[in-house]
Amino acid sequence: MASLVTKLLFLLFICSLICLSCCIPSDELDRFTSEKEVLELFKLWQKEHGREYENLREEAKRFEIFKENLKIIKETNAKRESPYHARLGLNKFADLSYEEFSKIFLPELEVITQDNLKEQNTEFTDVPCDYMPPSINWKKKGAVTKVKNQRQCGSCWAFAATAAMEGLNAIVTGRHSVSLSEQQLVDCVDTAKGCDGGWPYRVFEWVAKNGIVKEADYLYTATNDTCKPTKEEQNALTLTGYENVTWYSEKALTCATANQPITVVLEAKDEFRFYEGGIFEGKNCTGTIRTNHAVTIVGYDSVGDEDYWIVRNSWGQDWGLKGYIYIKRNSSSTLGLGVCGLAVRGAYPTKEKLPVKSEYYSSI
Ligand SMILES: *[C@@H]1O[C@H](CO)[C@@H](O)[C@H](O)[C@H]1NC(C)=O
Ligand SMILES: *[C@@H]1O[C@H](CO)[C@@H](O)[C@H](O)[C@H]1NC(C)=O
Ligand SMILES: *[C@@H]1O[C@H](CO)[C@@H](O)[C@H](O)[C@H]1NC(C)=O
Ligand SMILES: *[C@@H]1O[C@H](CO)[C@@H](O)[C@H](O)[C@H]1NC(C)=O
Repeated sequence: MASLVTKLLFLLFICSLICLSCCIPSDELDRFTSEKEVLELFKLWQKEHGREYENLREEAKRFEIFKENLKIIKETNAKRESPYHARLGLNKFADLSYEEFSKIFLPELEVITQDNLKEQNTEFTDVPCDYMPPSINWKKKGAVTKVKNQRQCGSCWAFAATAAMEGLNAIVTGRHSVSLSEQQLVDCVDTAKGCDGGWPYRVFEWVAKNGIVKEADYLYTATNDTCKPTKEEQNALTLTGYENVTWYSEKALTCATANQPITVVLEAKDEFRFYEGGIFEGKNCTGTIRTNHAVTIVGYDSVGDEDYWIVRNSWGQDWGLKGYIYIKRNSSSTLGLGVCGLAVRGAYPTKEKLPVKSEYYSSI
């Protein structure tokens, strides 16, 4: 008993140091093993996330799921091969089963089997590229707005697309990025399914025809709503259209990212859901890829021998690395898929005035 109290006090102490950003530290989780200790951990987690349940039955159910997730998190962390590799943590999603989570957040987009791959492919290692600096970070250049939260709505596609458009707009105008409205897209893009999913390139097509207003002019509600009319003078951005990045080539993706933020889709599994920091390798994405999530690549870099993408997610700033995830780049994945299929369906919006090479924009 004394040892349990000591553990909890220790954890509370650690928490008080770092909880401002988030969570019970992942390297402390192994201290909690017995049912009783894990229950205490659950209580602590509930407190940290302000989570209350309707009744004891629901609480017991959530506890069982929490235990399962804790097990997955601990096992995955134990298999890390390098201090650079991704750690998982007990984040705000820890009381949801993967089925529940994916139903809300991860509507399936496309199933890519090894057979389709053989038909469509293969590796484009020789994509022409005249400008590829060793690293780039559009966030540091002021071309990326702060990370947003899609909440309980499968609208990642809208958030991925606005981030790419906000970035392009900032780069082309040379001014700091202006936040654009996801709700207008959720309500109005008729080639997408609102909170039930969609494709970022469909957004670019739609915005090229209709324009898009600022966030403040059409507020986010995280629901399927009816499309409200906006005035032409409210339009905050015009596009000419979009391009797909050459598929199955991380080189093409790197080259495209050197010019502007890029939307990609990938398969997000539990390793992705509980990501806390480090370079994500997506070890569990093998064989058939079921893309179910859209995100925005806003840069790339390297540490040691590891190359990584800087990826902006839309699950709030309290997820991952202040809302971001680093994903392994230049992966030697078969057929040029990239980690969890990220190199398969990249796209970016275009404007008449092509972005000038990013080196000229270091002062945005
Ligand atoms: C990885 O990316 C860098 C750009 O940062 C590029 O120069 C390099 O050739 C790539 N490596 C491989 C093995 O493709
Ligand atoms: C949201 O709207 C889309 C069409 O715009 C529809 O396909 C989808 O079923 C709706 N989802 C919900 C939860 O009502
Ligand atoms: C881009 O890719 C999508 C499939 O993801 C395809 O339907 C579309 O026609 C492509 N667009 C262009 C401009 O090549
Ligand atoms: C990865 O896959 C293995 C084997 O199917 C499974 O045991 C493990 O829980 C998975 N890990 C995650 C984080 O999904």
